[in-house]
Amino acid sequence: MSKKDHFIDLLVHDLAGPISIISTSTNSLLVKEQKYGPLTSRQRQTLERILRNTNKAQALLAEMVEIYRSEEGLFHCSNFLITDALNDAILDAVDVLNPTLSAKLAFIKKDDSFYRTLRENGISVECTGKYCQDPFYSDQKKVQQVLRNLISNALKYRKERVTISITGDSDLIIHVRDDGPGIPEEEIKNIFIRFGTLKGKAKEETKMPGFGFGMSCVKILIDVMGGEINVESKEGGGTCFIVRVPSLHLFSEKEALQ
Ligand SMILES: Nc1ncnc2c1ncn2[C@@H]1O[C@H](COP(=O)(O)OP(=O)(O)O)[C@@H](O)[C@H]1O
Ligand SMILES: [Mg+2]
Repeated sequence: MSKKDHFIDLLVHDLAGPISIISTSTNSLLVKEQKYGPLTSRQRQTLERILRNTNKAQALLAEMVEIYRSEEGLFHCSNFLITDALNDAILDAVDVLNPTLSAKLAFIKKDDSFYRTLRENGISVECTGKYCQDPFYSDQKKVQQVLRNLISNALKYRKERVTISITGDSDLIIHVRDDGPGIPEEEIKNIFIRFGTLKGKAKEETKMPGFGFGMSCVKILIDVMGGEINVESKEGGGTCFIVRVPSLHLFSEKEALQ
């Protein structure tokens, strides 16, 4: 086992375990008042804040693990349903930004009523093409990480609406669109390298260290999967991220031919 493998193990077992216990215990206090006793509104608010931030830490940890795995060329490929990855990514993203909605969604079966509840909250999901039914062969955690990041940004910046569309008959094509403030043209080139520039002057100026990690992660994950990401955005006109991810079956065949 390399030094890095040990580091990943440490992150996964020694940090992810306790974080997950904090998250589930806090959630229990919030949703099982009959068992644990009633909460005052200030206690509830504080617990919700603990839960939101624990979920953020959990997401960041998962991201770091995937980045280390990517650097080591570690892939866990399998056939999986993209709708399963999408549903989990939506739940994760909603969890951090809207815990009340996430608590509601957690109890709904992942069928029409799940998508109806999302629609009622301004989130539309469209799935067409091959991967609506057929499994996609890739690293599910990496694909899910990409989806979670794009969806959580869209939810964070939207005015009202987020539309997620999954399509593609060979490569998987993902669109995540919002009606938020958009990204100024001159800023677009910076969003994927923000983490790099934050090491310098910008880091000293930011009030939120680690700010901008998400999109740099997305870019690395898509690169290692042999895909690409594009963004259509203009100030005041919303943002749409377009991702193409090839099936890793095809990717390894192509690599083998070179
Ligand atoms: N959907 C979006 N709408 C507007 N700006 C966005 C969107 N997604 C990303 N950005 C911009 O790209 C930056 C980098 O995104 P990200 O790495 O996810 O960092 P964070 O979510 O912590 O702000 C954001 O700070 C924001 O300026
Ligand atoms: Mg983000």
